[in-house]
Amino acid sequence: MPLPAIVALALVLLGGAWAAACLLLSRRRPSLELPEEALTGPLPRLPDGFLLGAATAAHQLDGGDGLSDWSRFEEEPGRIARGERSGTATGHRERVAQDLRLLVELGANAYRLSLEWARLEPEEGRIDEAEWERARAEVALLRASGITPMVTLLHFTLPAWLAARGGLIAPDFAERFGVFAGEAARRLGREVALWGTINEPNVQIVSGYVEGRWPPGKRSPRQAGRAFAAALRGHAAAAHAVRAVVPLARVGPVLALVEFEPASRWSLLDWAAAGLAAAAFDWAFLDSIRTGRIRFPFPEAGLAREYAPELLGTADWIGVNYYTRQRLRFSLRTRTRVAQVPGPGAKSDLGWEIHPPSFLTMLREAWRRYRVPIFVTENGIADAADVHRPAYLRTHMQIVARALAEGIPVGGYFHWSLIDNFEWAEGFAPRFGLYAVDYATLERKPRGSVAVFREIASEIRGEGRGAA
Ligand code: GAL
Repeated sequence: MPLPAIVALALVLLGGAWAAACLLLSRRRPSLELPEEALTGPLPRLPDGFLLGAATAAHQLDGGDGLSDWSRFEEEPGRIARGERSGTATGHRERVAQDLRLLVELGANAYRLSLEWARLEPEEGRIDEAEWERARAEVALLRASGITPMVTLLHFTLPAWLAARGGLIAPDFAERFGVFAGEAARRLGREVALWGTINEPNVQIVSGYVEGRWPPGKRSPRQAGRAFAAALRGHAAAAHAVRAVVPLARVGPVLALVEFEPASRWSLLDWAAAGLAAAAFDWAFLDSIRTGRIRFPFPEAGLAREYAPELLGTADWIGVNYYTRQRLRFSLRTRTRVAQVPGPGAKSDLGWEIHPPSFLTMLREAWRRYRVPIFVTENGIADAADVHRPAYLRTHMQIVARALAEGIPVGGYFHWSLIDNFEWAEGFAPRFGLYAVDYATLERKPRGSVAVFREIASEIRGEGRGAA
């Protein structure tokens, strides 16, 4: 056969194999679409005891008073959009009772809040009794209002004294975090059964150690690998410390889950990009807990498998924070080897695509992999005008109902967020609140979505639509 014919044949064969592989992958991982009308109707009754509420985080409501890594990071020029700083943020510290009444107004029976380690232990080993008393009073108030608290021990912010020694990668991070968790359990364990250890370690590590947009502002895959291992060990230390004090506590890690899809279903490189992103971002942390082996499949992280048996059995539940999906293509230009391509759906004020079917895909996948109960610990949208939020709320709750109908044990749903708050490097502009905050007067005003949330609360309790 002449050479050109051989080359042509080889190309045809290669193309065929390529197309077959793409087809196979598309079959194995079809992109889930659900008809709009399937997601907009009234909700079925959900099991008694299902937790419906809202989520917040201390720094985002209160700011950090210079005690945490975040509040210091905000002082560096160019870190926060428009040069903003969290300051006293929403003024929540002076309005705790008032803000908690909003939960009752919503018809919520649960609230996810976080502790600010930096305030509770402002210097290494020095405990601030008055701050602990505030935390105790808050959970007591929640209980008295019929609201089940879920407490997150670490929601992105670290005490400045610990950050000065390396933060997550300080040699004694896990140990110190374990001590703090034990202290929290001793002081709040009578009122709190549900404990989240670390919120979104995957986001914290990518933003802080790969992209360098968050504290500690590094761009080092190697340090990201170390932070990943440290966060896992910290999670385990906290889980064991809480259980040692509150044997009936139910403890879990909280991850941001994003469905990564190939920008083109006909590109094997895009498939690889999406697969790598999912492995490193979505599943690596949870897989390590399941197997007791720390593994971070991130390019250039250079981390050997570490055996960490203390991880085994430390997830009584998994917290899923779901907002959006991402379409990825392979790119040599970025450190992560992937680049994002906008999807076709409507977008939030932050440009995040609204795509409820991916939420179902992620709930199914989390259940298939780990077989432990799931809490939707965050779900919401930056939508100042509240144009998309009413439908977003309803469609995502429909997904929860579907997941339950499929036998996936979803124990609760926490909307992000109760009120507008400080959105990290994006500052105050993104508005995630069911209630709007007027930052001039600190007044809270219900958005239209509050009525939708109330309707949902009565529907899932079997009280019918509009009974609220
Ligand atoms: C999550 C985070 C929250 C909040 C939310 C909205 O990643 O846990 O603190 O900022 O996203 O972006």
